[in-house]
Amino acid sequence: MCKAFIFDLDGVITDTAELHFQAWLRMANEEGYYFDRKINEQLRGVSRRTSLSIILAGTKLSEIQTTVLMARKNKYYLEQLESLSEKDILPGIRSLLLELNARGIKVAVASASKNARYVLYQLGLIPLFDAICDGWSVVRSKPEPDIFIYAAGQLRVNTCDCIVMEDAEAGIHAARAAGMQVVGIGPSARVGQADWHFNDTATFDLTTVLENAEPNMM
Ligand code: G6P
Ligand code: MG
Repeated sequence: MCKAFIFDLDGVITDTAELHFQAWLRMANEEGYYFDRKINEQLRGVSRRTSLSIILAGTKLSEIQTTVLMARKNKYYLEQLESLSEKDILPGIRSLLLELNARGIKVAVASASKNARYVLYQLGLIPLFDAICDGWSVVRSKPEPDIFIYAAGQLRVNTCDCIVMEDAEAGIHAARAAGMQVVGIGPSARVGQADWHFNDTATFDLTTVLENAEPNMM
């Protein structure tokens, strides 16, 4: 039985992947590391630190150098977030949140981003969530299940009663490992292994998902 919906943020509620890309690209160009959109696909859903290690492609840096580069990329990303607003909410998401609220289904965000709260603030969506779980909430990032288990705890629901909406392979693995059913948003090559698959948020259909959600086994 579905008692809670847990949303990934980047690529599900808003498309900040492009903003992350521009910020990483600026840093990589300044430092002389090769980076392109294909490599950027590997950064979807993973932490800032893991993203940097993918861009470094085996180059070893000290902890101080690593911290400096992550901070610089984040500064560039925050500059981009200044212009984020309600217009950047992906199609259908605001009405979906309102419908879930009206049906008494709890809603949370579970994002690897340490900027998740600021992004939601810029989008004007904070009041629509019962819990906001972000990159500060747990130590191990997706594909580990920790953020989703933490979100279920914040919502006071069993993990088996949660449905996750994700656009990243790492997120789908994490949700599965948490014992949750998953809606995949995006191309089937990326999210085809989810329980339900929609090409984008505009075509998501809540009724289909709720009708086919696993009954509560507890
Ligand atoms: C999300 C994005 C990733 C990003 C991560 C950390 O999961 O999909 O691309 O690297 O958050 O974001 P942050 O804002 O903390 O750097
Ligand atoms: Mg995502």
